[in-house]
Order: sequence, then structure tokens, then C-alpha cells
Amino acid sequence: MEKGRNFYITTPIYYPSDNLHIGHAYTTVAADCIARFKRMQGYQVYYLTGTDEHGQKIARAASDNNMTPQAYIDGIVSNIRRLWETLLISNTGFIRTTEARHQQVVKKLFQQVYDQGDIYISEYEGWYCLPCETFFTERQLKDGKCPDCEREVELLKEESYFFKMSRYADRLLKHIDENPEFIQPESRRHEVINFIKGGLDDLCVSRTSFKWGIPVPFNEKHVVYVWFDALINYLTGIGYAQDDSMFAEYWPADVHLMAKDILRFHAIIWPIMLMAVGLPLPKKIFAHGWIMLEGGKMSKSKGNVIDPGILVDKYGADAIRYYLIKEMSYGQDGMYSEEMLVNRINSDLANDLGNLVSRTAAMVIRYFSGQIPAPEEYAPIDEELKQAALQAYQESTAKLEKLDFAGYLISCMKLVARANKYIDETEPWRLAKDESSRGRLGAVLYNLLECIRITTVLMAPAMPQLPLRVNAQLNLFPSPEELEWDSAGEWALVPAGNEVKKGEVLFPRIDLQQMEESNMASEQEVKKDVPAATAVKEELKEEKEYITYDDFSRLDLRVAEIVECEKMEKADKLLILKVKLGEEQRTIVAGIAQHYEPAELIGKKVVIVANLQPAKLRGTMSEGMLLAASDDNRVEVLMVQSDIAAGNRVK
Ligand code: MSP
Repeated sequence: MEKGRNFYITTPIYYPSDNLHIGHAYTTVAADCIARFKRMQGYQVYYLTGTDEHGQKIARAASDNNMTPQAYIDGIVSNIRRLWETLLISNTGFIRTTEARHQQVVKKLFQQVYDQGDIYISEYEGWYCLPCETFFTERQLKDGKCPDCEREVELLKEESYFFKMSRYADRLLKHIDENPEFIQPESRRHEVINFIKGGLDDLCVSRTSFKWGIPVPFNEKHVVYVWFDALINYLTGIGYAQDDSMFAEYWPADVHLMAKDILRFHAIIWPIMLMAVGLPLPKKIFAHGWIMLEGGKMSKSKGNVIDPGILVDKYGADAIRYYLIKEMSYGQDGMYSEEMLVNRINSDLANDLGNLVSRTAAMVIRYFSGQIPAPEEYAPIDEELKQAALQAYQESTAKLEKLDFAGYLISCMKLVARANKYIDETEPWRLAKDESSRGRLGAVLYNLLECIRITTVLMAPAMPQLPLRVNAQLNLFPSPEELEWDSAGEWALVPAGNEVKKGEVLFPRIDLQQMEESNMASEQEVKKDVPAATAVKEELKEEKEYITYDDFSRLDLRVAEIVECEKMEKADKLLILKVKLGEEQRTIVAGIAQHYEPAELIGKKVVIVANLQPAKLRGTMSEGMLLAASDDNRVEVLMVQSDIAAGNRVK
């Protein structure tokens, strides 16, 4: 195996005190995205995740459930493994700290550090935060509570072993200083430097008040402190002291990924432990932000958790992964609500990406009987598209290398938007009307397929099912499971002549209202009351009288394409739209400014009442009306998703 082409990435090992939630999925999905990206680049990747199974918190959770700790965690751990499968996590290894291979390594290293005089016995008195499994001094508490999670702490007094952290502080500071990439993002790096400069206390690394842990090898009254035990998983997981050649392939780790809550353990205690045992330090420790709910941080102990497994059942793994990765803005916290998730699926995946694929597939089927045309006749605009694709490849690579997850997906979606705009600019349906433009039409569709191919390669680390699903329709890849990252940096790889088939909609639009109703229904289950939505429908039926077909056909409903859109000055509810109906252009004033940004409407095809008497609204003549669905809170303009051209009738 070529040296230097190995890549080792880890997530924290999670506490199996309860089932995991979307916060844990956030880190695991992000790490998976990097693991897949590196594999696509040709690296031999080891992706390690697992569970942190010792400590008082686990022991208490088990006894609260009247179970032995082992039986309790075995159940949760199998749920965790299943969850990762559901989310398409491609971890190479899974480590449990209760495994014999890990216990041996922890004992060996504890002994080594003790023998060299870096661990000594003393008396500990201090405050312990159980959910964080962390000791604090009186001075560190915030209003008498845990400074990290703000929960109650307990006073502990016991004989303990201590690890001489202070001895290594200067060496660690020097390392951080000489290796700017070691702790990232930059703001977190500064926090760690300041913390170390504030002075490091020796760390209490054993406990006697409970038994659920790895016994200290030379004094079985003590168990090893759970963090000292847990951090060592990063060594055990790749064969430390058991498989030397494997360990040599992968250590030092390329990235330890985690959220900011546990950065200090990884950026201070862990490097000092490694210095003490004489091992090189990991190359990068990266702390992302938290994913928050509207009411604050999500946590198992607060009881406000979101189960990612349920979301995958409802929306599919790719969509959930897309949401989580896009929500991980560099150095910042993200937000989760089901409404935000649905909106993002609808706008990015259904409208932008899904539409690009379905419009292109439909046109290849319609105009070329489903056979991918060869690109025969180029136009200058093609070069622009090609440059946009190259830029998406370069930007996505740079962003992923930097672990800027949201930035990476934004780069991909810029290409999707550019390709959709290219459809509007080149108007393939117009080219199709003229036999002499056939060569050009072929090139336009070929270029669109090329953009879809590149986007699919770029998005594969985030959405592993995308290549297979795109391929089922467009037949762009000989082996969609084995895409090479750098193939996204090339142009014109789409195989002309391959067959395109009509397939299922990649990302069906989700009706937010229906989703909320079905959530309510499943929450209320067998509540006998008539659901609100049904009541509304009944009411409508009674109010409206029947019309004849002739009445209906007096309406001239048309597909119209929005070509310009701006807010009306001094009218917070009104937008002024310029729409095209075939050759004709009209101005329409619509009361939707509180529901849509002008930019998101440009290029969209809507349905208008074309024979409505023109009327002046705030000084502007409005020559038609948009159709929209609405309830008490929202307005959703009806859109035409296919390539049916503007000007066509709606009947
Ligand atoms: N067992 C320790 C880690 C030991 S690693 C040697 C632990 N476990 S944990 O179950 O509490 O997981 C914490 C980690 O889970 C965070 O650092 C983060 O990676 C992930 N997250 C849990 N909740 C989260 C959010 N709400 N938001 C983002 N990440 C979150 O600490």
C-alpha cells in the first residue's frame, strides 16, 4: 500500500446511556462524508466510531432500568449500529470500550505512565458533573453548577490517582503554536491556547466510588477515569499493541471530529496522554458547532431529542444527510426543525436538483428517443457552463479538505442553479421546433447531462444513494458505486449513445401541511375529533356552489415564466413580476412578498389567470393573477415543474 495515501478519521465514541439522537448523527454523517470523499480520492480510509461504555453515568442508567450495565448497553449498542446502517454510515471499525482488546491497551498505558512517574496517588476532593463525567474545582463552577451543561454537580472526596498534566503544558503550547492546523477552527484554537495558558491542574484519573470501569492494573480498588479510558479508543481501534503494521499505517490520525463540547478533552488531555506514552499527536482536531432546536441545545438528559431513524423512514437517508451537512456552517451552530428540513428538501432537492434531472431526462427521451446525443454544435455559453462545473469541483474539494461542510454543498448547488439557468437561456424546447438546430439541441442536452454527472460525483459523499438513483434514469456511470472524485474535474465524460429511461421522481416535493397533519395524527393516534383540515374541507364544500364546465373554460389559465421580480417600494406585501407567456411579456403585481424572496422566483414557471381584467395596484398595472395555495400562515405559488413551455394552457 502506498504510504501517505492512508487516511484515518474518527468520531467521538458515544455514551450508550440512551439511544442516540440527531446531534450524534450530525457528527457521524459529517465524518462519513469525509471518509467517502477521501475514498473517492483514492485514499485507503479507516473510519472509526463506537461507544464509550464505562463510567458512573452508564452504571446509573442501567440500574435505573433494573439491568446489569452490560445487558443494558448491549441493547443500546445494537440500536446504534442499526442507526448507522440506516444512515448509510460507512465506518470501517466500531469500537466498544468494554471489549477485551481495549481493556488490555488501557491497562498497559496506565501502567506505563505510572511506572514513569507521571501518575501518582493522592486525595481528591472536588465537584463532579455526572452527565459530562467531568471534575471541577469550586472556582470553576458557574453559580454552583456545571460550567459546561449547567446541571447539578456532586461533591466527591476519595483517594485517587492523578496524571501530571502540568508537566506537559509548555510542550503542548509549542506544538499548537508550530502546527496551526492542529486545532481548528481558528476561534476554537485560541480558546484552547488561552485555557492552557490559564494553568493546567493535574487530572484525577481513577475512581473508587463505583466499579463499572477498567480496573487500575496495580490497585484493583480503583477503576480508570472514563475519559482516560475512552480517548485511548482511537489507538485500540486501529490495532495499537495488537496489530503493529495496521497501527503504523494509520497513526497518527488525520482528523478527530467532534462538537465543541468535548474539544478540551481532545485538544488538551489527549495530546498530553500521547506525549506521555511517546506517540505522535493527531494531525487535526476539529470541533464543529452544535445542532440546536428552537428551544436550545438538544441532549439526552434534557429529554428533547429527535430520533434520526424516524426521519430516515419518513424522508430517506440522503435527504437527512444533505440537511445535516448543509446545516454545519463552518465554526457555527446549526438549527433543526422538521419544517426547516422539509423546506430544504423541497427547495434544494426537489425543485433545484430533482427538477434538473427530470427536465433533462424528459428532454432526452422526447427529442432523442432516450439516446444520449453526441455534443456536435458548441456555443460560447457552453464554455461558461463548463467553467461553472470546474469551479464547483475545485471549490467542493477545497471546502471538504477544510471541513467546511456547508460551504461544500453550497458549491455543489451553485452548479445545479447554473445548469437550470442554462436550460432557460438555451430554450431547448425552441431548438426542438427547428430541424436545423438539432445539432445544437444535442449539445445543450449533452452539456446538461455532463453537469448532472459532475454534480452527482461531487454530492456522492453527502448523498451515497444519489449516484445509483441518477444512474437508474440517466445511465451516466459504468459503476456508480465506485466513482472517482477527480472525474468531476473533467469535462465531456458522459457516454453518448447510452440509453436514458424515465424513472421515479428523485426527491418528491413534500407537502408541509400534510406532513404536519400526519405528525399530529400519529401523535394523537385515535383521537375521535374531526381533524381540523377535514373540517375546513367540509366547510368549503358547503360554501361553494357548482359551476359548469363552460363556466370553468371561460378562464384562460396559462403557464408563465417569471423573468424579472422585485419588491414594490413602500408596499411590504407586493412583488412586481415580469412574466413571459410565449412571445408575450406581462407585468403582474402579486401579494406574496412576505412568502417569497424575488430571487427565488426568477426562472420559475407559474400558472396565471391570463384573461383577468387588468387593474392598477399601487400605481402599477397588473395584467393577470398568479395561482397560489394558502392557509392561515402560508402562501405557496403553484409551479410547473416540467419543461412544458411558458404560454401553454392549463386546463
Ligand atoms: N463519550 C464521550 C466522548 C468520548 S470520545 C473519546 C461523549 N459522548 S456523547 O455521547 O455525549 O457525545 C458527544 C458528541 O456527540 C459531541 O461532541 C458531538 O460530536 C455529538 N453531539 C451530541 N449532541 C450534539 C448536538 N446537539 N449537536 C452537535 N453534536 C452533538 O461526549
